Amino acid sequence: MALRDIAKLGEPILRQHAARVPPEKLDSPWLRQLVTDLIDTMHHNQGAGLAAPQIFEPSSVCVLEVEKNPRYPSFPTVPLRVLVNPQVTPLERAELESTRVTIYEGCLSVPGLRGKVDRPRKVHLEAQSLEGAPIDEVWEGIPAAILQHEVDHLNGVLFVDRADPRSLCFLEQFELHVPPSQRVLDGGQTAPAHVPFENQHRDVEEC
Ligand code: NI
Repeated sequence: MALRDIAKLGEPILRQHAARVPPEKLDSPWLRQLVTDLIDTMHHNQGAGLAAPQIFEPSSVCVLEVEKNPRYPSFPTVPLRVLVNPQVTPLERAELESTRVTIYEGCLSVPGLRGKVDRPRKVHLEAQSLEGAPIDEVWEGIPAAILQHEVDHLNGVLFVDRADPRSLCFLEQFELHVPPSQRVLDGGQTAPAHVPFENQHRDVEEC
């Protein structure tokens, strides 16, 4: 296990554009080690995702994963994904409630803070795998929001840039004052409806 330090808000690397991974580095020992470190560090911190700049590596690589976990009771399962040089294009504009996904996001680089972010709920993902195979997919809903959060990191953007400023809150106040029905909205709907209430107060996302 290789745990890496996490860059916190204020570190210049979080504001830089990550460099594309060149073809000769695909499937290399360097890239494999970077991805292993990202996964280990994400798991250790119970993150939903982690981007390379967050571990002080200015390369266009991110990982994400949501398993059934009491920390994310209202998130659908997202199998572990490794994305190299990802690019995301919105397929819907987040102007109508039905075309956006709204999450009180958090971030391992901004510990303890939450803020409400609206994002397009359907996006086109183009990327490469660790081995360099092309990835061309459409993502929707909550996984699409997590994906956009991670790709933002590769462009020097943090969720606090996109959050409604008046929604920003610390975790303790979030749990006290933001009703579970407002924490995760997919297409204007609380998602999913079947989450037991007693678990919802633990709905915390850190990317
Ligand atoms: Ni993050």
